Amino acid sequence: MNARTRALQCSAALVAAGLTLTACGSSGGDSSSGQSRSESFTGRGPITYAAGKDSSGVVQKVIDSWNKLHPKEKVTFIQLPTDADSQRQQMIQNAETKSDAYTVLSLDVVWTSEFAAHQWIDKLPEKQFPLDEMLKPVVETAKYRGGLYAVPAASDGGVLYYRTDLLKKAGVTAPPTTWAEMKAACAKVKKLSEAKGMSCYAGQFQKYEGLTVNFSEAVNSAGGVVTDANGKPDVDTAEAKQGLDFLVDSVKDGTIPKEGITYQEEDGRQAFQDGKLIFLRNWPYVYSLAGKSEVAGKFAVAPLPGLNGPGSSSLGGHNLALSSFAKNKATALDFMKFYTSEDSASTFLKDASLAPPYAALYDDQALVEQYPYLPVLKKSILNAVPRPRVVQYGDVSSAIQQEAYAALTGAKTSAAALKDLQQELQKSSAQ
Ligand code: GLC
Repeated sequence: MNARTRALQCSAALVAAGLTLTACGSSGGDSSSGQSRSESFTGRGPITYAAGKDSSGVVQKVIDSWNKLHPKEKVTFIQLPTDADSQRQQMIQNAETKSDAYTVLSLDVVWTSEFAAHQWIDKLPEKQFPLDEMLKPVVETAKYRGGLYAVPAASDGGVLYYRTDLLKKAGVTAPPTTWAEMKAACAKVKKLSEAKGMSCYAGQFQKYEGLTVNFSEAVNSAGGVVTDANGKPDVDTAEAKQGLDFLVDSVKDGTIPKEGITYQEEDGRQAFQDGKLIFLRNWPYVYSLAGKSEVAGKFAVAPLPGLNGPGSSSLGGHNLALSSFAKNKATALDFMKFYTSEDSASTFLKDASLAPPYAALYDDQALVEQYPYLPVLKKSILNAVPRPRVVQYGDVSSAIQQEAYAALTGAKTSAAALKDLQQELQKSSAQ
C-alpha cells in the first residue's frame, strides 16, 4: 500500500470512528515504520537547501561554514519567498514534477503530514539525530505516523513585543497579561506626546498562514479550541467567538490600525521598528533585528495576553526534510546533521534570536543573561498549541484564513464566520 492510499484509508477509518482532524498525524503504530535503511541515503556531491527568505544572513553564514569544510559537497541556498503559503506552493510544485532542484527543504512544522503522506520527503534514520535533547513538542512536529520525516532546526513561539520606555513613562509598571489590560495600557501611552500617531497593536492579519496562527491564538487565548483533543473541529463555540471578537473589535475600535489587516510578519516588524506600534505579536526572530533598529533598548518581550490571563501561542517553527527526488542524499543527511546540531542552533540563537529546539540552551545562565527573552520563549513554546496535524492541512488553513478574514473585514459577523468555518472543517476532515 503506498502512503497516499494509506493516508486516505487512515482518514476514512478515523471518520468512521468519529475521530477526525488529528488524522494520522502522530504517534500511531505503523507496521512499516522501522528505521529507514541508511543505505538508501547514497551519493555525494553538491546539493541545495530551499528555505524562506533569510532576513538576518545567518543561514548563509552556517552554509558557508559547511561549504568551507566540504568543498566537494557544497550547499547552495535557494531563497524562497517570505510567506509560508508561497514557500509551500513552490515546494509542492517541485515535488509534483519530481524535480531534484531542492535537496533539503526547510518545512514549516505544519506541513510534515502532507509531505510525508504524499511521499515527497524521505523517512529519516531517527537514531542518527539527538532528538532526546530537544523539546518534546518540537520533535513531535517532525513525526508522521510514528516515523521521523524531518529534523527540528528552529522552533517558534509567538510573543508580545512592547515598548518599555513608553509604558514606563505612562506609569504602566508591568506588561499586560490580558487584552483588556493591553487596551488600557495603550490608552495611557497614547496620552504621551511621544506616542503621537502610534497605534496600539498588530499581529499577522493578512489572508495567509500568519492569519491562521493569529486566529488560532486568539481562540485558544479565550479558552476555545479550533479542534478538540480528538482532532474534531469544535470552533463554533462561545469561547472561540470571544477570541475572534477580540480581533474584530480591535480592528473596529482602532486598537489594530487599518493597515494592520494587510500585515505579514515583516510589515509588523517594520512598523514596530519605525516606532508606529506600542505592542506587536511576532516571533522571536524580531528580537535581534529590532535590537539593531531605532527602538533598540526601548523594548522587551512578554507572554501573549489572553482574555482572562496569559494567552497561548500556536506552535511554529521549521524542520529540515529530505526531498524524495533529490540526488546526493548521503551529503544531504550529513548536512542536515550539521545544520540541526546544537552548535548551529546556538549560532541561530546568537545571530538571529531564533528559538532553539535544544532544551539545554534555554537554561544556560550565560545565554539567558545575554538573551533575556529566553525564559518567556521557552514557556511560549512548551505551552503552545499545535495547529491541526493533518494531511489536508492546506485545505484546513485556507478555510480558517477565509473565514477569519471575512470577520476581520466585516464581510461576516464573528458568529457566522465561526459557524461556516465549523462546517468547512468538518467537510475537509471527512475527505
Ligand atoms: C513562522 C512560523 C511558522 C508559521 C509562520 C506563519 O514562520 O515558524 O510555523 O506557519 O510563521 O506565518
